[in-house]
Amino acid sequence: MGEQNRQWVLTHRPVGNKYADAVELVSMQTPDLAEGDVLIRNIYFSLDAGTRMWMGPREDSYSPPTPLGSPIISTVLGSVVASRHPDFQSGDLVRAYGQWADFSISRPDEVYVERVSRRLDDLRQHLGVFGANGWTAYLGVLEYGAARPGETFVVSAASGVTGALAGQIAKQHGCRVVGITGSPRKSAWLTEELGFDAAIDRNAVDLEQALRETCPEGVDVYFDNVGGAVLDSVLANMSLFGRVAVCGLLVHYDQNEPLPGPARFDQILMKRLTMTGFFSPDFYHRGPDLNRRMRPWYEQGKLQMAFDVTPGLENTLDAYSTLFTGGKIGKALVQVGDLDATSGLS
Ligand SMILES: NC(=O)c1ccc[n+]([C@@H]2O[C@H](COP(=O)([O-])OP(=O)(O)OC[C@H]3O[C@@H](n4cnc5c(N)ncnc54)[C@H](OP(=O)(O)O)[C@@H]3O)[C@@H](O)[C@H]2O)c1
Repeated sequence: MGEQNRQWVLTHRPVGNKYADAVELVSMQTPDLAEGDVLIRNIYFSLDAGTRMWMGPREDSYSPPTPLGSPIISTVLGSVVASRHPDFQSGDLVRAYGQWADFSISRPDEVYVERVSRRLDDLRQHLGVFGANGWTAYLGVLEYGAARPGETFVVSAASGVTGALAGQIAKQHGCRVVGITGSPRKSAWLTEELGFDAAIDRNAVDLEQALRETCPEGVDVYFDNVGGAVLDSVLANMSLFGRVAVCGLLVHYDQNEPLPGPARFDQILMKRLTMTGFFSPDFYHRGPDLNRRMRPWYEQGKLQMAFDVTPGLENTLDAYSTLFTGGKIGKALVQVGDLDATSGLS
């Protein structure tokens, strides 16, 4: 006998930031598990800007488009409630590729599923500091961006999860850190709570000019989360031999055509820049080691993450649109379950 499960299913390719016409909440019984499957009762699932790209038709992205009629995939934190995989048992707390749903069905031999510890003061950090965003931030700063102590480090979407973690990691590494945000409240969070040296509200200033004033000796490392006009403003301010770590192109995710730019591509030659793209599934296997490295900073309060938690599966679409309208700070999650009620073990 299956569990009653509600899940968000993609029915049409969305237009812009409108999801109500493209995604439908469908209720059904979970099917019998096939050999190798696990059934996870979701507690939280992650809202990620990249999901928007997979809702669209682009075939040349780093993941194929979500087929119409399929559930929306996302990273979930939840409890295994039934398993037909020898490595997972009922009661395990897992972080996994699952679905925007009450329950996820995942196949660990084919998609990412990892048992995680219950001994963490805030279990949401399995989807924050100690999950894919943390690993992306860490490697984007230290390996792909190759930041060095004393350098000027700039990050966009800095009040988002990856940007806020990248800035804090660069700070711990000895960089001067500047965040680009979308509001004074977010800028204040970065400088007053997270230790950023400066923050620029991109909606309040001429960004290119503001960067020139804030980074008079140029930007040595730019951790790009958004692309578009912000990237052009930073390219115009890069220092000689600077590095651009291309983490995300958020402003383009709702576009189906190849990008025409960046407009300031010339700066790559003029400043002898290095631009490197990177994608977290390429380094998931390094997660345990990266978590060990970040743990001391976390325990000392030097690596923090705030959560913007939306309760209720039915509220997912409104919460998701805030990623693109800038209406939230930190890591966006939807909460659909309760750890105590679901695990039986905590
Ligand atoms: N390469 C990888 O493996 C990898 C892994 C994780 C994430 N990413 C990418 O990293 C980027 C950030 O993801 P995230 O999950 O950290 O972000 P997030 O927490 O979802 O935050 C997104 C932030 O982007 C900013 N933003 C929205 N529209 C913008 C616009 N038009 N121009 C500039 N900024 C805008 C907003 O902040 P403000 O209003 O403060 O600007 C918003 O809070 C995305 O592009 C994502 O795809 C890549």
